[in-house]
Amino acid sequence: MIPSEIIKQKRNGNELSHIQIKDFINDYLSGEIPEYQMSALLMAIFFNGMTNSEISALVDVMLNSGERMDFAHNSNYVADKHSTGGVGDKVSIILGPLLAAAGIAIPMLSGRSLGHTGGTLDKLETIPGFKVDITLDDFRKQVDSIGIAMIGQTKEICPADRRMYALRDVTGTVESIPLISGSIMSKKIAEGIQGLVLDVKTGNGAFMKNIDDARKLGNTLKMIGKSFNINTDIVYTSMDQPLGKTAGLWCEVQESIDGLKGNGPDDTMQVTFELGAKLLLQAGLSKTHSEAIALQKELILNGKAYEKFLEMVKYQGGNLQDIENYNKLHQPKFSKNFKTEKSGYIQSIDTYKIGLATIELGCGRKKTTDIIDPTAGIQFDKKIGDKVNKDDRLLKFFNSDSTKLIFAETLLKDCFQIGEEKVEHKLILD
Ligand code: URA
Repeated sequence: MIPSEIIKQKRNGNELSHIQIKDFINDYLSGEIPEYQMSALLMAIFFNGMTNSEISALVDVMLNSGERMDFAHNSNYVADKHSTGGVGDKVSIILGPLLAAAGIAIPMLSGRSLGHTGGTLDKLETIPGFKVDITLDDFRKQVDSIGIAMIGQTKEICPADRRMYALRDVTGTVESIPLISGSIMSKKIAEGIQGLVLDVKTGNGAFMKNIDDARKLGNTLKMIGKSFNINTDIVYTSMDQPLGKTAGLWCEVQESIDGLKGNGPDDTMQVTFELGAKLLLQAGLSKTHSEAIALQKELILNGKAYEKFLEMVKYQGGNLQDIENYNKLHQPKFSKNFKTEKSGYIQSIDTYKIGLATIELGCGRKKTTDIIDPTAGIQFDKKIGDKVNKDDRLLKFFNSDSTKLIFAETLLKDCFQIGEEKVEHKLILD
């Protein structure tokens, strides 16, 4: 195989065979194909897309780049949730323990920040001591023993996604239906799950900017799930504004703890419960949607969801004392407020730019070797539809690097559009 010929074939819009995709990815993983050739192929896929049979081959090769878990011995329903990526989306950190507390086994493989969006793994790693790179054996034991583990792609499981995900992040090749589908579904199938719920985000802060593209992505994800015998439900949610009160690293873990303790913001909890309801229905643990919502609220009120979170943190080496003092940890050295210059109603928020600002602050990477800043993030005081008066604070942004704080300020300047009319924002789209 001559790598540049495969790149040209895709560049010219021609279909690649299963064997070509397999050889290219395997040679990339063994080091024979360098990063620049994989980057070129990713860009060719980004521009020309993939046919359904190429997408199936991509998933198959990425899946078989590592091991595949098997939880057939586990008597609980084994399932997971994944999001296509958003700003302020901390739902996995709340929903994983919540569903485990309900009796669903959750072997969750998550990702790092991608493009302008945040990554569950980066957020979890801000918990002092918390390990996201445990062995597969320990992962399996943990799920069997406490019902949940949250880790990242390892050398054993989905190594192709680990390498390609990091490369896509820094080469402008994220917003591609085949690449997103391959990345998400290879991880999810490798988990050995029976059921899956996917939060397909759409809007100015999502990879899919409109509902038609989001549906194309959702249909592709569902098609792959079906072909691997995984019960797959899709929920379409808006990313026309950040989810919840914060976007960043530790601040999102704080918000998740608040959510698990019953004090989460309405929008974060609404998305959490909607996704959770799908899996509770799949598992047969609830008979109706309203019963599933009530069960989740109950598990939060009686403290069982939070207890499960603490159990997971402890099992994965996290420091429980830090969690207890969660409002004192990772204090940012610098912060600035952004105030409105006029009165009116918030009509729209440029969520993409807000995501970019989080990267500038230190929540994500501009190159694969960048170190992230756990203290960095943004707190939102106003959202779409809120009335504001001149000089009201719209947001506060913070980190521990004053130069980066200034870069972020430039981006945040024109993110809020304020007008005379009150507008509604629909969160759950379908
Ligand atoms: N989440 C993933 O795991 N991969 C993507 O490509 C996008 C979102």
